[in-house]
Amino acid sequence: MSISIEAPAVGVPSGERPSLSPAQIMQNAREREASVSRLLMAFISSGLVFMLLPGTFLGVWNLLRISGSESAGTVSPAWLQAHGHAQVFGWIGSFILGIGFYSIPKMRGGVKPAFGPAWFCWAMWTIGVTMRWAANVYRWQWRVMLPVSGILELAAFLIFFRAVSRHRPEGSGKKQLDPWIYVVVSAAVGFLLLLIANLAACVYLALRGATPALSHVLDQRFLTLAVWGFLVPFVWGFSARWMTVFLGLKPVRPGLLLSAVAVNVSGVVLTLAGWGAQATAVFVVAAALSIAAIRIFEPAQQEAKTRGVHGSFPFFVRVAYGWLLVGALLGVGATLWDSSGGIWGASRHALTVGFIAVMVFCVGQRILPAFAGMRQLWSSELMFAGLALLTIGCTLRVSSEILAYQGIAGWAWSVLPLSAMFELTGITAFATNMLGTFLLEPSHAQKQAIVVELR
Ligand code: HEM
Repeated sequence: MSISIEAPAVGVPSGERPSLSPAQIMQNAREREASVSRLLMAFISSGLVFMLLPGTFLGVWNLLRISGSESAGTVSPAWLQAHGHAQVFGWIGSFILGIGFYSIPKMRGGVKPAFGPAWFCWAMWTIGVTMRWAANVYRWQWRVMLPVSGILELAAFLIFFRAVSRHRPEGSGKKQLDPWIYVVVSAAVGFLLLLIANLAACVYLALRGATPALSHVLDQRFLTLAVWGFLVPFVWGFSARWMTVFLGLKPVRPGLLLSAVAVNVSGVVLTLAGWGAQATAVFVVAAALSIAAIRIFEPAQQEAKTRGVHGSFPFFVRVAYGWLLVGALLGVGATLWDSSGGIWGASRHALTVGFIAVMVFCVGQRILPAFAGMRQLWSSELMFAGLALLTIGCTLRVSSEILAYQGIAGWAWSVLPLSAMFELTGITAFATNMLGTFLLEPSHAQKQAIVVELR
């Protein structure tokens, strides 16, 4: 799969019928660009809705109940898993599918692209994730809803996979593909395996489960596949592709990057084979290798490109990679000392909120306005506010979760709701900024139309 951030492909497409005039060809290319931007905005908007309501609001509700009763055991595992599913599949999954479709050059230029399957994919994905969340929370017909949701999600991904695999990546004429492409491919394979595991788990629960929730042991393995098999390598791939340019970093070290992926895959395999404790140390090595490969903490060789976004963008990207290390190290700490789920929870949120969400806030606000019809980001101040609030909330959450759950400091229970409010406000700021960009900022085509009218 190839991801590019160049300006829209409005050149003369190779497959156009020769009878069309150059003006018509340009007009067709512009219409395709507008159509693919609409598709991208649909995936991103539904992802934002999943992030905010079924994801974050349910997460906050769960955390308020846990801190109110001072025990993690008071919340139904089905509700905890509904929150995790909405965030991982509903939010990040929708974003990745949308950006993936946008990045297929044929959807923007070239021969007439087929938008029908892409919209069908969006509908199946959105319905599948919604059904899963509703089955976990309301339990209505969950023995039917669970497998149907798993089938819809897997089928949607296969439509996407078919579209992407028909496209030869940029530079495929070269002898060797860019290393970041291998990283993204490994993450895409992780995504596919996750969806297959998810469907198998849904069928198993429908036939044998007493509730729509996975057992603790199965859930832990499933989450490792989700976080280390899918989310983390996707972010590495995107970082290797763009951070050299955006942050002005020195060139990526390809050998180290591919070693990070290989070590990471071995950690996932170890976990799935039941060696989860040993795998946590392997993930620390993989995280360290990825940092050395992308050279995120090394002095930049060129000025960062922050036009259109907040100037703190490079700082927060580095903060995110700091959270990656913290999350991986806390995983080792959890295998040694966790007696309550608190260190595991802290590790998971250092990775999902600290690393993944902070990176999505940074990269998303940098690239998505341009993808959505060459718009400007609505507010760079709101971008800073969202990132700062999320980082403060994550720091409070990770530290107080360990102190409270492990029984080290009773006062830490009262910090947890505060952390949730910081994170919720930060996440709302990000969603508002993205929706403000889509709804209030004019696209390139709209700006051109205004210029023509003024003339
Ligand atoms: C306001 C923000 C959030 C709050 C208050 C929150 C709250 C929670 C709580 C209370 C749990 C239960 C386990 C524990 O005690 O740690 C949990 C689990 C989880 N969260 Fe979050 N969360 C938030 C944001 C996120 C984000 C942004 C992601 C992903 C991008 C995420 C992914 C997960 C996952 C995967 C689980 C594990 C679910 C399972 O047990 O299967 N959370 N969250």
